[in-house]
Amino acid sequence: MSRIMNRRQVVQIGAAAGLAAATGATLAQASPKPLRVGVIGVGGRGTYLLSLALAAGVEVPAVCDINEAHLNRAIDLVAKARGRKPEGYAKGPFDYRRMTQRDDLDAVIVATPMQVHAAMSIDALCAGKHVLSEVAAAMTVDECWGLVRAAEETGRLYMLAENCCYWQPVMMILTMVRKGIFGDLTYAECGYVHDCRTLMFQGDQLTWRGEMLRDYLGNLYPTHALGPVAQWLGIHRGDRFVSLVASATGQKNLVDFVRRKFPKGHPAHEIKFRSTDSATTLIRTAKGALVDLRYDLSSPRPVVSTTYYSLQGTRASFESRGDSIWIDGRSAGHAWEPSAKYANEFEHPMWTQWRQQAAGAGHGGGDFFVIHEFLETIRAGRPSPIDAYDAAAWSCVIELSGRSIAAGGAPQEVPDFTKGKWERRTP
Ligand SMILES: NC(=O)c1ccc[n+]([C@@H]2O[C@H](COP(=O)([O-])OP(=O)(O)OC[C@H]3O[C@@H](n4cnc5c(N)ncnc54)[C@H](O)[C@@H]3O)[C@@H](O)[C@H]2O)c1
Repeated sequence: MSRIMNRRQVVQIGAAAGLAAATGATLAQASPKPLRVGVIGVGGRGTYLLSLALAAGVEVPAVCDINEAHLNRAIDLVAKARGRKPEGYAKGPFDYRRMTQRDDLDAVIVATPMQVHAAMSIDALCAGKHVLSEVAAAMTVDECWGLVRAAEETGRLYMLAENCCYWQPVMMILTMVRKGIFGDLTYAECGYVHDCRTLMFQGDQLTWRGEMLRDYLGNLYPTHALGPVAQWLGIHRGDRFVSLVASATGQKNLVDFVRRKFPKGHPAHEIKFRSTDSATTLIRTAKGALVDLRYDLSSPRPVVSTTYYSLQGTRASFESRGDSIWIDGRSAGHAWEPSAKYANEFEHPMWTQWRQQAAGAGHGGGDFFVIHEFLETIRAGRPSPIDAYDAAAWSCVIELSGRSIAAGGAPQEVPDFTKGKWERRTP
């Protein structure tokens, strides 16, 4: 498993830990009954989400990780913020199940490697806990169905922690779409293109990310790109994904990376990666819109902006690369305008209300909103903003794109995880 935490995450953890220590007690006292949250997987991401949850006032009775150093770091973080140590669970890969059986937990955050998200989320739901799962939700279509069934049968809240859905420009476009500024939506383009080659190995061992690229074919990280677009298109709120086709390059980048990183004769040279350099998936919706989704985790490039989005409607067009917008009848002539020009008029109410708190949180404030929304949704008893149906439709692209690539681009049907509810549900 990867032990990698980049400098930015370390800084974020430190900052959030300080915030937790400074404000956690006050916030907890302000609420009569703080929510009680456990975390499974306290590596880079889980530790950061834990710090944000502490800053939001939750109690943390228990944490779980098979890596003792990571577990002890999390225990210390909680102890510093709350003055008492949580119980740690570290007795092997299934010890999380013991933790989810505790009756002093309302919810569980799952921040382990992607390959185990679905199993852990399903187990936690079945143990009666609300679940916030890191992305993606699942690796296979069967797991997606399992997640949907578990959420339906238990009635517990399931939320996918897709932070990109909460970026300010993404939410501003969502407001514009819902107010009809784009007219009917026809096309969207999005992608996650992030050079993660250095995260594939720790020493000379594959990390979980490296194992994933070794073991799976397809778009293995679809939700950062697809989540915002699916929300704009009203997927499961009037539309749904019906089919996809995918095509891909070969795998040259990781082969080249390994050749340069390890000496001749090293066993790493024998690893065969199934994941490709780049893959493109075209997804059609029931209402006839088309999504062009790109995936690339291994092409050498600067790590600056790793996701991009564009949206086309009958009345307007948006391009995140350049932050440009053109609105028929509003924009002068045929020149793009900076989309920020419309921020005052179409700012999403969540950003208007929580801008100050979100400022400084990771991923453009998205990480603040993921934790905030999860906790507020539990408290209010509202439906999940990114529920098991959404998580399943966005994550099943992993297996379906792999199947399409393997079959020379053959179309694959996207299951209707809602069993018809997508037509009646409203945003
Ligand atoms: N939303 C985002 O922007 C974002 C950013 C980074 C990572 N992530 C996601 O967060 C997850 C974790 O990523 P990371 O970078 O923190 O990885 P990581 O390797 O740093 O952390 C994973 C942790 O899970 C632990 N673990 C593995 N198997 C376990 C088990 N059976 N029981 C308990 N603990 C177990 C590992 O020991 C490790 O501490 C991944 O799914 C990744 O996709 C999301």
